[in-house]
Amino acid sequence: MSKGPSPRSPRSGPGVTLDAFTDRYAQRTHGMTASEIRALFAVASRPEVVSLAGGMPNLSALPLDAVGKLVGDLVQGSGAQALQYGSGQGDPHLRELICTVMALEGIEASPEDVVVTVGSQQALDLVTRVFCDPGDVVLAEAPSYVGALGTFAAYQADVVHVAMDEHGLVPAALREAIAAVKASGRRAKFLYTVPNFHNPAGVSMAEERRDEVLEICSSAGLLVLEDNPYGLLGFDAPPTRAIRARGGEDDVLYLGSFSKTFAPGLRVGWVLAPHAVREKLVLAAEAAVLCPPQLNQMIVAEYLSTQDWQGQVSAFRGMYRERRDAMLDELPRQMPAGTTWTHPTGGFYVWVTLPGDLDAKVLLPRAVTARVAFVPGTAFFADDNGRSNLRLSYCFPEPERIREGVRRLGGVLAEEVELRATFGSAGSTRPNRPHSEAPAPDMN
Ligand SMILES: Cc1ncc(COP(=O)(O)O)c(C=O)c1O
Repeated sequence: MSKGPSPRSPRSGPGVTLDAFTDRYAQRTHGMTASEIRALFAVASRPEVVSLAGGMPNLSALPLDAVGKLVGDLVQGSGAQALQYGSGQGDPHLRELICTVMALEGIEASPEDVVVTVGSQQALDLVTRVFCDPGDVVLAEAPSYVGALGTFAAYQADVVHVAMDEHGLVPAALREAIAAVKASGRRAKFLYTVPNFHNPAGVSMAEERRDEVLEICSSAGLLVLEDNPYGLLGFDAPPTRAIRARGGEDDVLYLGSFSKTFAPGLRVGWVLAPHAVREKLVLAAEAAVLCPPQLNQMIVAEYLSTQDWQGQVSAFRGMYRERRDAMLDELPRQMPAGTTWTHPTGGFYVWVTLPGDLDAKVLLPRAVTARVAFVPGTAFFADDNGRSNLRLSYCFPEPERIREGVRRLGGVLAEEVELRATFGSAGSTRPNRPHSEAPAPDMN
């Protein structure tokens, strides 16, 4: 007689759960699901596929010899410190340098109020951990960065999306969302926003809206979580003044990162917070990781102090601008009539809105078969929106590969449009949904 499966081995088969631990997980674990981007990684990284899916910075322009020498010198000269535990708040010298980086966006801050984190992703985690109980509301742009949505879900916060247009978050929609949450008897803890070169929307919040958004949030007693990894990657103009720089000392938690301006593999980011919040964040960080990696922090500090890092960022800007141009040049040639898209002035992403009831998620397997990958818009919503949207990244492939990827995508869309013209809406790829559903944002 065969024995039943051990609780430690996964079971499979009809009607049997695949995960033998399901009934033992904490409630919050059930909200943790692989993002659509993660699920895509395996196929999208095949060499024959042009991936317009991932948001990986292109590091080919980094001076690797100089960085290698700097790392070697650090270990040889200061190894006893660099390889040791460090402060839970982060290396004091790096925190000073971070203040000079933030000054480029008009922020005046004390190193005392900066906490170094393991990428800005950990800052998102710490802030949510410190502020959100299960069921608390987080207001977030529609669409929003998928990694932030994953964090909010992990802490069982409810995301209420706020509409955007080509000038970023819409202040009137923010007022309405705050009022609606209040009327429902719930409490919104903060507004999550990516004001510069938005991931995934590719738009930036207009100057005057920044003041208005800050004013709306502070009068409603709502914190602003300003997530700004792309702010120095503008193609046409100097950096825009941060929301934190507009009198937001007590109302804004500002997140920064060296992932897009230096190297994501070092996992060095930071959060600038009002003093009292900063203390809680350090306690939460210590509970999570004791301290951020000392060697990596020293590498970043050394890089900022000894290399022409701003010149390097300028080289990155030139490279990403060329890639953005390739994508924006090819899109009108390849997209079917009625397709619209955003025109980013910095950062990595273009947000596409498909015509009619084309469903990006349904089209993805066909696109991968045609050797091009994108991220379906639904990944960037906590609700069921985003089906007619997709995100294209131009940061990683060479310009000619970007053009080829857009051509392949155009072929897939043209085929779908033709099928529909032949067979009518019976061949519709998008399930019917109630009319009450909010329209997907059109940001062209
Ligand atoms: C808007 C946004 N926030 C945060 C992150 C996380 O960046 P990191 O943890 O590498 O600093 C990303 C990464 O793509 C992002 O796009």
